[in-house]
Amino acid sequence: MNGAPGAATARVTPRGAERWVRGHPWIYRTDVTAAPGEPGVVAVHDARGRFIGQALHSPRSEIRLRLLERTDRPIDGRWWRERIAAANARRDVIDANAYRIVHGEGDALPSLVVDRYDRWAVVQILSAGLETMRDTVVGAVVDVLGVDGVLLRNDAAVRRREGLPEEVMLAHGAVPERIEVREAAIRYWAAPWTGQKTGAFLDQRPNRTIAGALARPGGRALDCFSYHGSFALHLAAHSAGVLALDSSADALARGAENAALNGFENIEWRAADAFETLRAMERARERFDTIALDPPAFAKSRAAVPQALRGYREVNLRALRLLAPGGVLVTASCSFHLRLPDFLEMLHLAAGDSGRTVVLERILGQGADHPELLTVPETGYLKGAVLRVR
Ligand SMILES: C[S@@+](CC[C@H](N)C(=O)[O-])C[C@H]1O[C@@H](n2cnc3c(N)ncnc32)[C@H](O)[C@@H]1O
Repeated sequence: MNGAPGAATARVTPRGAERWVRGHPWIYRTDVTAAPGEPGVVAVHDARGRFIGQALHSPRSEIRLRLLERTDRPIDGRWWRERIAAANARRDVIDANAYRIVHGEGDALPSLVVDRYDRWAVVQILSAGLETMRDTVVGAVVDVLGVDGVLLRNDAAVRRREGLPEEVMLAHGAVPERIEVREAAIRYWAAPWTGQKTGAFLDQRPNRTIAGALARPGGRALDCFSYHGSFALHLAAHSAGVLALDSSADALARGAENAALNGFENIEWRAADAFETLRAMERARERFDTIALDPPAFAKSRAAVPQALRGYREVNLRALRLLAPGGVLVTASCSFHLRLPDFLEMLHLAAGDSGRTVVLERILGQGADHPELLTVPETGYLKGAVLRVR
């Protein structure tokens, strides 16, 4: 095979080719010995001139090539429809109407994110190579998912490394300002145009259901780093009262609307700093039966991990001390740079500081609609645990 006829070509070092053999789709700049000046799809050859596959090419990015296809089959609308349909078929048992359909490399569609929100799709195109196929990809999303509208949330910072603008734009039909989402027995409003990520934190979906099921009936619960109340709503269905805490008053205002959507009147919304409030509540000897702790990514880079660990240890320590006997902490970290063993080590230290007997009941991850490939660590970032104090 020589690659698709007429296709632009790139050539890579043996080390670059070995990455594909070992199951990672990225080949870095330093392992690309020849490539065109323009972004697009290229046929890739190894150092001996043998065709090894087709890739998205990003001439300005450190990640220069992203494997799409190992044969010379044309990467056309049909190809995209088949890949997106296969990813969609893997999600046929999800008890929600908002979830991820394509998780980039985790679904063998590098640098592409497609999230379904009921009858609409929110898409992120995260590489210069993929940007050249934008209309084909959007067309395939519409054909496969049958959605009424496609919004491009291309305001992700990683696009800058690709030399691409950050922008939010409608790519097909119409997409409303807010979309009613059903997640198991709970409903909430997602904000596709303005909300964080693509409009909601879809990655925590199964963990929110787990937290709700663990809430003590008639007990008191805390949702710390609540955003628009996603954990609080699941906790409120089982608890007598819930305190939802976040620094963003806007997010909490939407949380209050979400509570109304479900007919809940047992959630208190408090805009405050979590570190200060947890400390103050510990001093006041407050007690909760269930706590959800879902902070933002404290470690944005590998260099920031030591500092981030101090932050995670602090909030987990306070949360453990606030638990009533038999109480449960559902805790998480979405920092890619903080890997699971370090997260568990941090919990081990926080438990030691807390003076409580802490049982590790369960290790949590991102939902199955965000598949994490063992050979592609970048596909996994969310980790968590269920801890119970005696
Ligand atoms: C990962 S998001 C939470 C997502 C949410 N649990 C969900 O499932 O939808 C982290 C949240 O922490 C909030 N936040 C960041 N720093 C904070 C602080 N120091 N105190 C309180 N909230 C903070 C942000 O506003 C954001 O809503």
